[in-house]
Amino acid sequence: MSQQKQTLGEFIIQNQTSFKYSSGELSSLLNSIRLAAKVVNHEVNKAGLVDIIGAAGDTNVQGEDQQKLDVYANEKFIQTLTKRNIVCGIASEEEDSYITINSQDENHRNKYVVLIDPLDGSSNIDVNVSVGTIFSIYRRITPVGTPVQLEDFLQKGSEQVAAGYVVYGTSTMLVYTTGDGVNGFTLNPAIGSFYLSHPKMEFPENGSIYSVNEGNYVHFPQGIKSYIKYCQEEVDDRPYTARYIGSLVSDFHRNMIKGGIYLYPQSSKNPSGKLRLLYECNPMAFLAEQAKGKASDGFTRIMEISPTELHQRVPFICGSKNMVDKAEEFMRISVERML
Ligand code: AHG
Ligand code: MN
Ligand code: MN
Repeated sequence: MSQQKQTLGEFIIQNQTSFKYSSGELSSLLNSIRLAAKVVNHEVNKAGLVDIIGAAGDTNVQGEDQQKLDVYANEKFIQTLTKRNIVCGIASEEEDSYITINSQDENHRNKYVVLIDPLDGSSNIDVNVSVGTIFSIYRRITPVGTPVQLEDFLQKGSEQVAAGYVVYGTSTMLVYTTGDGVNGFTLNPAIGSFYLSHPKMEFPENGSIYSVNEGNYVHFPQGIKSYIKYCQEEVDDRPYTARYIGSLVSDFHRNMIKGGIYLYPQSSKNPSGKLRLLYECNPMAFLAEQAKGKASDGFTRIMEISPTELHQRVPFICGSKNMVDKAEEFMRISVERML
């Protein structure tokens, strides 16, 4: 008989001592993310029933308004994170400004801030393609006992204490790091528990998949155009295979398992790229580095960028280390040629 797999709940408790602030608070925070992920998973799985239970904007048979899934996911994560006395503030893709949590924390004693993309790849919902949730966790830098400030959210990615994602795919997985490697847990929907299915996940050093929205090719900088041509060349182990889902979480997840590179570069249409530094790129960069991969804006390590705005965008290149190194080399050469 195969050995019984560890549940996420057991894993969190067992590993909390390896975390440098091992107070149990981070464990509790991760447990609330685990809970919200299950609730959102349940709703995501019903998305195909839209003709039966009504589309976003309709009223259902109970007289409740049907919500768009990204709004629903946002509410569920915020509600769940607010319930325990651990988080002092939340920033979300779905909220213009950060939320100060003071309902049960009037003395502002809570130590953690959370940044989330509640539903990533939302354009895939209507077509039954994988979507995800991304989260990033920091300790506040302003003094405990005072309200959370913008600067608590604008920390460099290198200051993250934990980050992860949920992928609502053919199976639902929660993948996270607290700075001691990356572990993946698969939800058994019959029982409602996540089980450790992918211990110590790592990007292969090399890969043969490139993921980029090539429809934007003409708008890309020369370095990226040259790198794409390099991926397509018939030399050595190339051409690589093109795979692009359009959900960062799903593209990242596949590339981490199989070896590959994801690119969302700057373009003449989006000079800073499209993806958000704080709740898309930094958490993915932390996971990538913890999984022996790499994340860059083409020139600089993502986690070294000093954020200036909550919803700041950044060019993003992430994946197997040698592939990201190569893309950076093309960027560097193209800039040198312009000088
Ligand atoms: P979101 O659904 O949270 O707005 O994020 C979508 C992001 C990312 O997940 C994906 O990789 C990228 O946008 C796709 O963008 P394009 O459609 O421009 O390729
Ligand atoms: Mn997103
Ligand atoms: Mn989103």
